[in-house]
Amino acid sequence: MTDLRSRPTALPDHSVIPAVWTRYTDLVIERGEGSWLFTTDGERYLDYTSGIGVTNTGHAHPRVVRAVAEQASRLLHGQQNIVYHEAGLRLHERLSRLMPGEGWGAFLSNSGAEAVEAAVKLARVATGRPIIIAFRGGFHGRTAQTMALTSSRVTVRGDFEPLPGSVYHVPYPYCYRAPDGPHPPEACSCDWEAQLQTLFAQMVDPRRVAAVIVEPVLGEGGYVVPPPDFLPRLRDITRQHGMLLIADEIQTGYGRTGRMFAVEHWGVVPDIVVMAKGIASGLPLSGILAPRQLLDRWPSGAHGGTYGGNVVCCAAAEATLDVMADEGLVANAAERGQQLLDGLRSLVDETSAVGDVRGLGCMVALEFVRPDSGDRRTPDPGRAKEVLAEALWRRLLLLSAGSWGQVVRIIPPLVTTSDEVVEAVRLIRESVAATT
Ligand SMILES: Cc1ncc(COP(=O)(O)O)c(C=O)c1O
Repeated sequence: MTDLRSRPTALPDHSVIPAVWTRYTDLVIERGEGSWLFTTDGERYLDYTSGIGVTNTGHAHPRVVRAVAEQASRLLHGQQNIVYHEAGLRLHERLSRLMPGEGWGAFLSNSGAEAVEAAVKLARVATGRPIIIAFRGGFHGRTAQTMALTSSRVTVRGDFEPLPGSVYHVPYPYCYRAPDGPHPPEACSCDWEAQLQTLFAQMVDPRRVAAVIVEPVLGEGGYVVPPPDFLPRLRDITRQHGMLLIADEIQTGYGRTGRMFAVEHWGVVPDIVVMAKGIASGLPLSGILAPRQLLDRWPSGAHGGTYGGNVVCCAAAEATLDVMADEGLVANAAERGQQLLDGLRSLVDETSAVGDVRGLGCMVALEFVRPDSGDRRTPDPGRAKEVLAEALWRRLLLLSAGSWGQVVRIIPPLVTTSDEVVEAVRLIRESVAATT
């Protein structure tokens, strides 16, 4: 018979969690506060993963916690097709004001992948066109449609073919890994535009393209910051052919790069913005922003979901926006990110194992290479892994990224302080030194 009772014994073994979850640490966490996580054995760790870019307001921000508790005590679930609720109405209105100009609206869902799915469905319905173009090295999720868009790492999609079709990929301008050699983004010679035009000449009629989806800064693909003219040029090309431009701001958005959305750095306004991660400080909420005249092309019932716009998540999201505004978190992201980059930049000259140091706001990366082989840019995932282990030993949590796992990415919460950044820079430098 099914046994629903809990067993008040010792904590179950870690093996109850399936091995499909790639595991960075074996830490068992009792609580979090600001930039810090506290383990059940009383150790304190500086969390510069932010739970993969989620805890922008820090762990358990008291205002977010209060909003969640107050809402949870009144209503846990008010289904979107059946009723309206105050938190949802207020949040939708507020989200519509995050983009420049009038007339924007929001559609809410639960995870990042689900919001990307929504963006693709909307683009196809609104344009009546089937094809989606994505960029090599991009990550958009783990559902069937979003795996088809993803090319950051073969492990994400390699075992799951066949994937939904009518998706084509073109190279992202990854200046450090350009075929003709690394160069600064300001003097970019990457041929992404020529490759896109070749795609149009050989395989894809641009009149059949519903949308181009792009991460303004590659996330899982290695925190690659594009050259200055990339997004403006892409905006021109998509407009010229009547395609929609979808900005996947799931990792770059909500203040992380020092602007509310990263596209603002280049003065670009996409047709659809996809958001998740930081929007509810850790509660599962995601969504898209689009002009109402586009959103309203979705026939009633053509999309939805049981939990989309959950009332507790909406309350958390509202409190998140309050905290971001009152504590100046977007400006802090820009300042702390610059401080981090300034503290780490010289590693490129100090150790030949560090091929590139780059970033935008609080998305900062070190790319590890094997200088003794090939063209001195051979990816070195082993070294990146060792650096993560050394940092963990020093009680600093970092993550990897990049197609080979050769990148160490640093993702502080947007509430991080100048003192914490000083500490993190010291620990990262020590960790790199310990492996070289
Ligand atoms: C840019 C980007 N898009 C989509 C996703 C998928 O989000 P989720 O894991 O919430 O489905 C992620 C997650 O890391 C992401 O970084």
